[in-house]
Amino acid sequence: MALHRTPEPELMDGADQVEAYAAADFASSDQAMVERLALLCADQPGSRLVDLGCGPGNISFRLARRWPQAQVLGLDGAPRMLAVAEQRLAAAPELAGRLHFAEIVLPLPEPASLPGRVSTGAYSAVISNSLLHHLHDPLVLWQAVAALASPAAFVYVQDLRRPDSVAAVEELVAATMASAPAVLRRDYRASLHAAFTPAEVTAQLAQAGLSGLRVEALGACYLEVWGRLP
Ligand SMILES: C[S@@+](CC[C@H](N)C(=O)[O-])C[C@H]1O[C@@H](n2cnc3c(N)ncnc32)[C@H](O)[C@@H]1O
Repeated sequence: MALHRTPEPELMDGADQVEAYAAADFASSDQAMVERLALLCADQPGSRLVDLGCGPGNISFRLARRWPQAQVLGLDGAPRMLAVAEQRLAAAPELAGRLHFAEIVLPLPEPASLPGRVSTGAYSAVISNSLLHHLHDPLVLWQAVAALASPAAFVYVQDLRRPDSVAAVEELVAATMASAPAVLRRDYRASLHAAFTPAEVTAQLAQAGLSGLRVEALGACYLEVWGRLP
């Protein structure tokens, strides 16, 4: 019998959680994600990129460095995650003026209530890594994608894929997190239980009017959603 989804808390704002996440080395999977995006968008993400659920900015910084002509905006709802992102930005003055962060808890507020830096219909690429599985209502991500994207924007969303069984979850935890701090192991296990399947994501996209995007399984435990909007 398939494993049912068990949601986890949305925001990652616990001090120990933020500290462990920010200290963890996700460099190779983060860089692989950015290169995967580059490949799928034919190296044409455009000039305004938004990173939804940016956390401490792991992906946002890589986007800003990979496309030096682009403006990059990272959005997250967790103040402690954003504080780490801002500290890192202060240590990277070469990115000042091109990389920014703003606090937003999805669902996206009405345009009049958005922080000054955030505009609807404005981003040539809408990107997100490992946010979807946190959301109790996944449609809030797809609605934000649709609202923030400019015409012909490229969308790339990568996330965990829910395994078929508890045993498969435990195998992944043992294989990838054996030597990680306990808080990261706990969060990874909870995230695998909270993740969606490709079929569930396909249904979400249909409901959000984004059926033109493709959904595929990726590797042992990921899924990806991508495509160019009309
Ligand atoms: C697993 S982290 C991923 C961080 C980053 N994208 C990365 O790849 O390193 C998920 C992030 O999504 C944020 N998040 C969860 N629910 C959110 C919501 N409803 N609105 C905004 N951010 C949210 C959390 O606070 C956390 O920083």
